[in-house]
Amino acid sequence: MRRLRALDLFCGAGGVAKGLQRAGFHVIGADIDPQRNYCGEGFIQDDVMALLALAVEDPSFITNDADFVWASPPCQAYTDLQKQNKRAYDDLIAGVREALEWIGLPYVIENVEGAPLVDPVRICGASVPGLRVIRHRLFVPLIGIDCPAEHPPVFTHDKRKAHYGQLDQNLSFVQVTGGGNATIANKRSAMGIDWMTNAEINEAIPPLYAQWIGVQLAAHLSA
Ligand SMILES: C[S@@+](CC[C@H](N)C(=O)[O-])C[C@H]1O[C@@H](n2cnc3c(N)ncnc32)[C@H](O)[C@@H]1O
Repeated sequence: MRRLRALDLFCGAGGVAKGLQRAGFHVIGADIDPQRNYCGEGFIQDDVMALLALAVEDPSFITNDADFVWASPPCQAYTDLQKQNKRAYDDLIAGVREALEWIGLPYVIENVEGAPLVDPVRICGASVPGLRVIRHRLFVPLIGIDCPAEHPPVFTHDKRKAHYGQLDQNLSFVQVTGGGNATIANKRSAMGIDWMTNAEINEAIPPLYAQWIGVQLAAHLSA
């Protein structure tokens, strides 16, 4: 039987690719930067916005024989970081959505809370067995995994926090960000990722998120 094929746009080092592979997909990634640790079956180094512009003219240019498209555009424009340092970051979501609507394949756009997604569902790591990150991410348009009644406390070096000094970072929830508070070993175990560098994992989503979404997509595409 033919394996379902996914195009993984803005792929980074492959948090999404790993989850989609586990859901049964053959995955080709595209990213503007070289991704020597990317774990998909193929990789295109290019500006995705330029690829999408060409694909609007001729969808086969980018989609080839893909069954669906995943897009994880950079999130900095929608985060607290942007509000704090007031830098202008690329705001690509509207353009990506417009191109994907035009191309017409089923698609998923994933991003952080605050991003301009239409009717997204949320996945919360605190409700996913095996993970030790909260790391809210939004997806359109499938079934999410919402937060538990209360989030667990997250390991911190901030003395102002009430739970400072009370948690062991090897066992507790941790934060996986550039300014994060965990060792790389702990970030890897908390996210279920064992192949990424510190910079790569700070950008990634847990493969279990993409696996959850991928299983739903595979069922939809095979129906
Ligand atoms: C949030 S990260 C993706 C993380 C990935 N989904 C994962 O789970 O590992 C966004 C990626 O978009 C890439 N990127 C930013 N602008 C781009 C563009 N115009 N074209 C292609 N890739 C771009 C960055 O290099 C980065 O790897």
